[in-house]
Amino acid sequence: MNLNIALLPGDGIGPEVLAQAVKCLQAVEETFNHQFIYREAVVGAIAIDRKGNPLPDTTLNLCKEADAVLFGAIGDPKYDNDPNAKVRPEQGLLKLRKELGLFANIRPVKVFPSLIQNSPLKQEVIDGTDFTIYRELTGGIYFGQKHLNEDGTVASDLCEYSEQEISRIAHLAFKAAKNRRNKLTLVDKANVLESSRLWRKVVTKIGESYPDVQLEYMFVDNAAMQIILNPSQFDVILTENMFGDIISDEGSVIGGSIGLLASASAGEDSAMFEPIHGSYPQAKAQDIANPIASILSAAMLLEHFGLYEEAMAVREAVDKSLKKGVVTPDLDSKSQYGTNQVGDFVAENIVDNGDDFNMNDE
Ligand code: IPM
Ligand code: MN
Repeated sequence: MNLNIALLPGDGIGPEVLAQAVKCLQAVEETFNHQFIYREAVVGAIAIDRKGNPLPDTTLNLCKEADAVLFGAIGDPKYDNDPNAKVRPEQGLLKLRKELGLFANIRPVKVFPSLIQNSPLKQEVIDGTDFTIYRELTGGIYFGQKHLNEDGTVASDLCEYSEQEISRIAHLAFKAAKNRRNKLTLVDKANVLESSRLWRKVVTKIGESYPDVQLEYMFVDNAAMQIILNPSQFDVILTENMFGDIISDEGSVIGGSIGLLASASAGEDSAMFEPIHGSYPQAKAQDIANPIASILSAAMLLEHFGLYEEAMAVREAVDKSLKKGVVTPDLDSKSQYGTNQVGDFVAENIVDNGDDFNMNDE
């Protein structure tokens, strides 16, 4: 298969972890005879520094022309603590999501058996955790009208949703549940918010077309508690933009490191793949950042194009690195391995596993 992949390394540890994902994709190309073309562009703080714009037109156009976008990370502390900053790195990511129409953000949360000890939660609590969050990504409070009054003493952000915005992601979430364990939990705050009541109404109606899927409703405050108390009760979680942002970080704790969680963002015509972690500026250029989330994002990219065997080869190589302890210090404080070595190990094992696959095919 020929694929045109836009690479957006972004800020902080983004370039380092993305480079490992590319290594793995190259191993896939070599092993399974594909041809991927990579084109790189700037986004975020580095784009502000170089071009005065967190999402330059050249970057946006490159992404629009590509079959898929592989994204590193975004954010820089020099903007975080400046309430007066006119441009922010995050605006680049938000605009990119909006412009590419990436309305569905899919975030799988699973525990790796070899990392059970890494979780701050007890093994009996996390055993069997395997759920996927469907987070709405281009609406809600992130994109509603913002306002600050003239003397800067009153501010507001509008949370708005239309039936159409809710229904398109709801259909994807129901379909996902149908292919999994047939359970969908809508997370909202319908006891307080009008927008949440619209979500309930629309999702309940759509649920009638998916009679096999058991639909449950959960208030977000309770969901925050349930994810930690009993994560294995969840199969597919459907939720709006900001609630999804918050509970997915919470979900990442279950597996022991936020450096493990990948995500896919999909729209009608585009797809982007990125770790759920941020730019972790303290670790920049130290060769300690965990590349697994980025590598697993590349596996999700392969799956998006139907390259299931290839994605499986990546996942198996990742499992092997975790089992053998070829991991970064976030997973093992005594680890001698850096970002690059973990990337090399996974890439080499894709080639080896791939050879097995080819032999089996014969
Ligand atoms: C995420 C991030 C982004 C978000 C930030 C960087 C704008 O936290 O992808 O979860 O809030 O959506
Ligand atoms: Mn987030």
